[in-house]
Amino acid sequence: MSGPDLLAPEALERARDEALAAFTAAPTLESLAAARTAHIGDRSAVARARKAIGSLPGTEKADAGKRVNVAASAVQEAFEQRKRALEQERDQRVLLEEAVDVTVLPPRRRGARHPLTTLSERVADVFVAMGWEVAEGPEVEHEWFNFDALNFGGDHPAREMQDTLFVEPAGSGLVLRTHTSPVQVRSMLDRELPIYVICPGRVYRADALDATHSPVFAQVEGLVVDEGITMAHLRGTLDHLAVALFGSVGDGKGIRTRIRPNYFPFTEPSAEMDLQCFACRGASAQPGGEPCRVCSSEGWIEWGGCGMVNPTVLVACGIDPERYSGFAFGMGLDRTLMFRHDLHDIRDIYEGDLRFTSALGSEV
Ligand code: DAH
Repeated sequence: MSGPDLLAPEALERARDEALAAFTAAPTLESLAAARTAHIGDRSAVARARKAIGSLPGTEKADAGKRVNVAASAVQEAFEQRKRALEQERDQRVLLEEAVDVTVLPPRRRGARHPLTTLSERVADVFVAMGWEVAEGPEVEHEWFNFDALNFGGDHPAREMQDTLFVEPAGSGLVLRTHTSPVQVRSMLDRELPIYVICPGRVYRADALDATHSPVFAQVEGLVVDEGITMAHLRGTLDHLAVALFGSVGDGKGIRTRIRPNYFPFTEPSAEMDLQCFACRGASAQPGGEPCRVCSSEGWIEWGGCGMVNPTVLVACGIDPERYSGFAFGMGLDRTLMFRHDLHDIRDIYEGDLRFTSALGSEV
């Protein structure tokens, strides 16, 4: 269409009607924008008509200009109207789609107890079920309970061996307990005989924190003092705990323990206690056995110390060693947790990372 033709009243009306129809038909703001370019943009019929005015004879310019203006403002008006309508529609939709239900409760993490707590309670439960009592003692302990009454001599190297953390001021006589064994002494002093106690608790040593050492860790101590107690009772008790914690694997036979001679000042005789590897049951240590990660193919896992309560300790606690005898044992709870769950870094137990607690501590 040439310039003057574009300015014909019918042409302008058609351009206007087409624009109006296109705007009405645009279903979205994006398609409306495209329709705007086509019907209002520089290359639209109306824009081209406006340009064509210049080439008209002077007398016709005013009329043609009016016609273009009328058409252009009708088109512009229709565009604005449609735009407002589509914007309103969009706002309504967004309000619905992005509505926030303020009555919905925030997702709540379920609390879980620390795996060490769970294990400690499980061990205690095994003994409580046999009629034992749970005994506790202070973590800031007097040296007399932590060492002297347990038959550690005044300058016994074991005091240093245990990397003791002494409580200031120097000479206060107080230490952070280096083991749970002082609870044995407290139990013997406080309780009526016979004594059957299990004592889980936190202990402290001046060790630098690394994958296998922590300055704070957990132990569990067991103590029995009664008439006629022998090492056989100790063995039976340890085997019972082993089976309760590690079960019997496959063949129905329980996991066993073994004891090897050792020295502790507060027990005589004293022994080191090993747990039969609950993963390979000792098979890895046999010729041709598959290697075992849990026990490093030793067949046994070092578990703790034990022995018959030294008569010197009984005497220090006012118990007649002629009439009574007893056994005691103590083991690391962190170590137990670590080999039981194949953990390789003790720091995971103490860093308080929720991922650790929720992976292992799901028992509430
Ligand atoms: N208290 C010892 C330690 O921390 C462990 C221990 C050994 C406890 C022998 C006992 C025992 O009750 O009889 O190294």
